[in-house]
Amino acid sequence: MQIFDWNEKIHEKELNEVIYELKNHGIVVFPTETVYGVGANAFDELAISKIYEAKKRPSDNPLIVHVSDKDMLYDLVEDVSEVEQKLIDCFMPGPFTIILKKKVNIPDSVTAGLDTVAVRMPINHIANRIIKEFKFPIVAPSANRSGKPSGTNINDIVNELSDNVRIFIDGGNSNIGLESTVVKVIDSVPTILRPGRITADDIKREVGKVKISEKILNKVSENEIVESPGMKHKHYAPMTKCVLIDIKDKNKRIHKINELVNHNNAIVIGFEENREKINSKNFISFGREKNLEEVSKNLYASLRRADEIGCDLIIIEATVNEGIGLAIMNRLLRACGFNVVN
Ligand code: TXA
Ligand code: MG
Repeated sequence: MQIFDWNEKIHEKELNEVIYELKNHGIVVFPTETVYGVGANAFDELAISKIYEAKKRPSDNPLIVHVSDKDMLYDLVEDVSEVEQKLIDCFMPGPFTIILKKKVNIPDSVTAGLDTVAVRMPINHIANRIIKEFKFPIVAPSANRSGKPSGTNINDIVNELSDNVRIFIDGGNSNIGLESTVVKVIDSVPTILRPGRITADDIKREVGKVKISEKILNKVSENEIVESPGMKHKHYAPMTKCVLIDIKDKNKRIHKINELVNHNNAIVIGFEENREKINSKNFISFGREKNLEEVSKNLYASLRRADEIGCDLIIIEATVNEGIGLAIMNRLLRACGFNVVN
């Protein structure tokens, strides 16, 4: 197992090793602007099977194909509609994934047998350079065991995946900290299947219309038919039981948190502004409530820290569910298994 430190710059000799590994059916952990990914050649079934194995990922959950430029994207998909083209032009490269009609040559193990493929063009210079140098698209799910919080720094990931991955590239803490916004155009309307840093308002501003899947803030049962298989699975969850305190009135919210702290061996994950008012000796701040970019950046690492410290209950403060808050709440609800106090 090797960790390549590319915080300062891309190390050219190590880059050759990365390309060699990918060409020889290997899988590699690398940074993107959203979260870290564990990548393989998108046309290499053997390498892809290693990703599913490393993550213990259910085989019905398809992967995102990462490209370095638009030509690589057009090689993967059939016709692109006007609305889809607009989304591509506005949001790629960036923290944005679009579901398009796939070409037949894409392996079924990538798309879990669907006739569509998820495509993303990362803007992170390390991710982009690796794909460009490799010259083939790279499938990359988030670098974590299936069901766990996504990996946003190299230490959290090495702990979890070192049995199955030989090369880890350290590019520092993930800039955004939440996975890309996943969008599918349905009846000409861009529909958000997974919220992220690119918000509904961003899409509406550019395209004039947008829909948010109602599954985003609701529990989905195993046998329900969904637009995106990832909606069904357990996600982002620490090992410890979590509860989300979603009381709009701030004083009442803090009162409820303190009540729970008094009756449980608990850790609180909350906003910096409320640190002083919360009577827990175990308080983890996920940033300032008024700066949701900061909160999204710290989210997954905070959940992991709480697990490491150890307690019987993780009490989490909820945020607004609009703008980037929608993406944060989507993850927190799942981290808590929809165990919410309103
Ligand atoms: O930011 C990201 O997107 C990160 C980085 C590494 O790029 N990747 C990521 O991949 O989050 P993953 O595998 O953890 O999540 C992929 C999501 C899943 O919810 C999956 O169900 C959905 O995309 N997806 C993939 N292909 C799809 C398709 N053809 N139709 C609908 N949903 C799809
Ligand atoms: Mg994931």
